[in-house]
Amino acid sequence: MDSLQSLFSLRGHVGFVTGASSGLGVDCAAALAMAGADVALAARRGDRLDKLAAQLASEYGVRTAAIQLDVTSDGQIDVALARARRELGLVDILVNNAGISPTGRAESLPRATWDAAIATNLTAPMMLAQRVARGLIEAKRPGRIINIVSIYATVASSIYRLSAYTAAKGGLLNLTRQLAVEWADYGILVNALAPGWIPTEATEAGMAKGNNRERMERSTPLGRLGQPEEIRGAIIFLASEASSYVTGSMLAVDGGYQAW
Ligand SMILES: NC(=O)c1ccc[n+]([C@@H]2O[C@H](COP(=O)([O-])OP(=O)(O)OC[C@H]3O[C@@H](n4cnc5c(N)ncnc54)[C@H](OP(=O)(O)O)[C@@H]3O)[C@@H](O)[C@H]2O)c1
Repeated sequence: MDSLQSLFSLRGHVGFVTGASSGLGVDCAAALAMAGADVALAARRGDRLDKLAAQLASEYGVRTAAIQLDVTSDGQIDVALARARRELGLVDILVNNAGISPTGRAESLPRATWDAAIATNLTAPMMLAQRVARGLIEAKRPGRIINIVSIYATVASSIYRLSAYTAAKGGLLNLTRQLAVEWADYGILVNALAPGWIPTEATEAGMAKGNNRERMERSTPLGRLGQPEEIRGAIIFLASEASSYVTGSMLAVDGGYQAW
């Protein structure tokens, strides 16, 4: 193995990506597979996972598993991780990507909307991370946890009314730091990846409204929206030996949005 490969290869590792049925999750899974990891793909829409699992297996020659999962159910998380372990081996790279971004004025936000955003974007990543870490600690194996946060983990949105989302992502960012500290002794590195504005099923409609897209482009130093595949390099970096001294950090993939 040459030195470049030893820095970035994920061969022999097992990834578990939530929200792999659309948007950025597809690219998180593709990135791990491209670097040689076997990958479990998890989300509620199983038909999409089946297609992606077959595609990644044939394109990159890795083993894949399509696992239907609602991340807000602790019981389903246990079953899904057990299945990934049975089919692929112990999960040592977790990508907490599943997320929802409900909007609504803060002064009238329904309790159910708040609860759903916190359950999916904050509680579920914790429950998944906890279980993956437990497996690694018991097996005395190192691992990686990558939490997909957002530019809205560090700043508020001037475009959308996103109180539940910003609260959850801000919480997930600081949870990332806490877990990094608590699990450093076990060799479990925990980092956050913060995407900027990237068109996906979740974001396209909002971007098309009024002059939103133009405002986003204007407030991004690189002057354009991102593309989903532009997070692949950051995922491989955070999952691989290349980031062996990186933990508790946030890597922004946002065209410079947070730089000014
Ligand atoms: N796109 C952006 O501009 C942007 C910017 C910053 C951060 N992010 C973050 O990136 C992540 C992916 O977003 P995206 O833009 O790719 O959105 P997306 O296309 O809507 O994808 C969201 C994914 O989350 C899954 N999901 C939602 N609720 C779930 C649940 N209860 N159980 C399991 N899976 C669930 C969905 O799968 P099913 O519906 O099949 O379950 C889907 O695969 C999110 O955490 C989001 O906050 C996105």
